Amino acid sequence: MKIAIPREIAEGEARVAAVPDTVKKYVALGFEVSVEKNAGMKSGYADEEYKNAGAKIVAKADALYKDADVVLKIKAPEAEELSLIKKNTIVLAHFNALGNKDMMKDYAKAGITGFAMELMPRISRAQSMDVLSSQSNLAGYKAVIDASYHFTRAMPMMMTAAGTIAPAKVLVLGAGVAGLQAIATAKRLGAVVYAFDVRPAVKEQVESLGAKFVEVESEETKNAETKGGYAKEMSEDYKKKQSQAIADQLKKTDIAISTALIPGKKAPILITKEMLKDMRQGSVIVDLAAEAGGNCEATKPGKVAEVDGIKIIGTENITSEVSSDASTLFAKNILNFITPMIDKETKELKFNYEDELVKGTCIVKDGKVVHPMLAEQGGK
Ligand code: NAI
Repeated sequence: MKIAIPREIAEGEARVAAVPDTVKKYVALGFEVSVEKNAGMKSGYADEEYKNAGAKIVAKADALYKDADVVLKIKAPEAEELSLIKKNTIVLAHFNALGNKDMMKDYAKAGITGFAMELMPRISRAQSMDVLSSQSNLAGYKAVIDASYHFTRAMPMMMTAAGTIAPAKVLVLGAGVAGLQAIATAKRLGAVVYAFDVRPAVKEQVESLGAKFVEVESEETKNAETKGGYAKEMSEDYKKKQSQAIADQLKKTDIAISTALIPGKKAPILITKEMLKDMRQGSVIVDLAAEAGGNCEATKPGKVAEVDGIKIIGTENITSEVSSDASTLFAKNILNFITPMIDKETKELKFNYEDELVKGTCIVKDGKVVHPMLAEQGGK
């Protein structure tokens, strides 16, 4: 079977869905691998390295897609890419299927078999295949690094002959994978860290990293988590109490990193424009939820906004800024998903559609939108 690795065409996307190391593994598993010229360039992987790993370098995307049985991508195919992909080609990517429902019919019509890696069920067997975790972890790290770049003060406490510098106070909103890594990174840089999340189960994890948990007294938090470990949308009453707790904490905050997301929904607004008025001049907010609308009311996705002397970084696709590591982990997630699906005798990919991981990620097949979460939402 032939695997194709295209160069990502989305603006600002520097990652690539296979790295020389994973290409070597695919070749050893019996696949023929073709990589589009310069596909790994922005992630620091040269064509020569792919060649040495056993791949063929193909100059043009149309020639690459024409020959492919399997396409590995970071982002979902755009219309111009889709027009080049043959019927029945298996495509694995971060489709952003829940946020990109309109395209699902087009994927079905094109006859591809699509697997949305971001829908990987969050069970222990699938941890090594979880692109959301591998990418969010890096996003949380980079958010703190970006914040410190824009912050005009130092992060750690410094006692010098010229005087003492107080440590920066960091507030992390949403302590999932990205948030926990943001807490750990800010702690390593010497900041005093506070964190808040609607899911009370997170409190222990936050405290084990040395941060303080900001509590909101409410019975509702007992029921704030779905079976899959995700947050639910909260009631208006809860939101009011939460808003007050965040407003109080923000007054004492130098850097806020917000990561709060609700799958398939617009991100909740946690920092209002009103709250910004009470923050210290020179404070920095990094809004990792910018792509889903933002956790801060003043966030401008993809831009650095300045309101009342506070910088609000509306990061989009922040993992692309750590593209080398992000590509390596994304590529390994895909390899780990594919490897058990290879038929040992024929060396072909043979998906078992009864398997929880296959069922959980397959979005389009045989000309239809097949994922229950998409069909329910009118995707068929
Ligand atoms: P996410 O990216 O969907 O959301 C980020 C965080 O925002 C979550 O912790 C969520 O509770 C929080 N949040 C949502 N609304 C909020 C609000 N209004 N105020 C404050 N916080 C809010 O979540 P992520 O990082 O993908 O992780 C979700 C869960 O899945 C975690 O419990 C994590 O441990 C679990 N998980 C399980 C895996 C596995 O078993 N394979 C792999 C990765 C994560």
